[in-house]
Amino acid sequence: MQMLTYKIVTFGCQMNLADSGILSAILESRGFKGVESEKEADLIILNTCSVRQKAEERVFGRLGELSALKRDNPDKKLAVVGCMAQRLGQSLLDRAPYVDFVLGTDRLFDLPQYIGEQNGAPLIHTEFGHENIDIDLPARDSKCSAFVTISRGCDNFCTYCIVPYVRGRERSYPVSDLVQQVRSLVEDGVLEVTFLGQNVNSYRDGERDFSDLLRTVAEETGIKRIRFMTSHPKDLSDRLIDTIAAVPEMMPHLHLPLQSGSERILKKMGRVYTYSHYRNLVRRLREAVGEISLTTDLIVGFPSETEDEFRMTLDAVREIGFDSAFMFRYSVREGTAAAQYNDDVSETGKIRRLTELISLQKNISFEKNQCEIGREHSVLVDGVSRRDESVLKGKTGGNKTLLFKADKKYIGTIQQVKVTAADSWTLHGELLG
Ligand code: SAH
Ligand code: SF4
Ligand code: F3S
Repeated sequence: MQMLTYKIVTFGCQMNLADSGILSAILESRGFKGVESEKEADLIILNTCSVRQKAEERVFGRLGELSALKRDNPDKKLAVVGCMAQRLGQSLLDRAPYVDFVLGTDRLFDLPQYIGEQNGAPLIHTEFGHENIDIDLPARDSKCSAFVTISRGCDNFCTYCIVPYVRGRERSYPVSDLVQQVRSLVEDGVLEVTFLGQNVNSYRDGERDFSDLLRTVAEETGIKRIRFMTSHPKDLSDRLIDTIAAVPEMMPHLHLPLQSGSERILKKMGRVYTYSHYRNLVRRLREAVGEISLTTDLIVGFPSETEDEFRMTLDAVREIGFDSAFMFRYSVREGTAAAQYNDDVSETGKIRRLTELISLQKNISFEKNQCEIGREHSVLVDGVSRRDESVLKGKTGGNKTLLFKADKKYIGTIQQVKVTAADSWTLHGELLG
């Protein structure tokens, strides 16, 4: 089989983006060349997400479009990998029989068997296996920053969530391997790494925990900036807060999903913390770190959520003052504990709650960003603005996008930029000499 060009389409979270980087590295090391459009590609891989029904529908939509390409050119190979491949397996092939092969979340490293290096590999491979934990390749976000997966899987089983079923049990990579990975990224000119895991706080390598990993990487690799996501409030220890405060390479941003402001709903979600615990964590963080940007995830319309309980989420959002938030309508995931509950908040009720929440958060983000006007930030310049080629785009320590006019030579460097204007989503500024 002679296949030489490929295109990977990534859905879902940053873990998937990192995994797509691994798939690219596997393909490039075997002579494949990445192309822009599916039309040109001999091999098309959809790396998929199952977290909400809508995420899966989007993938089926794309598969429908691609089936026409397949019909015109039956030699083209079409693969579905990742969380949806893991969850649906055979039933995915039943619904989209033109798909050539299906690889689960732990089978990415089996890809070579499907590009002509070995015959007789199963059409669907979704068995969980831990052997590939040792051979990870970092994925590049841009030239100057990179994602590094530090753990896989999740053991928390929040009652609404499919991730523990599609990503398997939690496993951490050894500290020594991660240090090695970051070192080689630094040698390649990377200035910032983002450590990824479904719950990075519960990272463990023998006696060493997540704080130890952060401190070791900061001390031993020469990396300039470190970020991580996602954190679970139940595992955010005082030790970790102290590490964020004490280690200069740690960026002042924390993504800490709250999900709901109601104690009863949090309990039903299996989140095992209370809102008052969450509020205390935020107070401790702000005391220890000072200025820190906080972002979160929120779900509206969880089974049995009353109007009053939804208002508690609004109150929490107001009280904490998040810099930004990802906000979702509850979506039933078959096989999860919450799928047993009555999904009794109507779709229109969910939409109304979500709209109200988004509009509140938009105002808060706007106010937060207005406070940035006049401040100076160290910005990692990672490219040009999507709308205007002559405008550069960078990230502040708090992970906000800052746009400013300057020469392209600054891309891939850290610069001082002063904020001059802001809206809910972006800061605008000018380069300081
Ligand atoms: N491991 C991370 C992220 C998991 S998925 C964490 O625990 O924070 C990202 C977000 O999707 C979750 O935080 C949650 O807000 C949302 N989510 C997960 N399952 C969902 C569902 N069934 N319906 C709606 N939102 C969901
Ligand atoms: Fe899902 Fe909860 Fe695990 Fe996050 S911590 S991936 S929400 S089960
Ligand atoms: Fe989606 Fe899988 Fe990530 S379900 S959110 S791609 S872990």
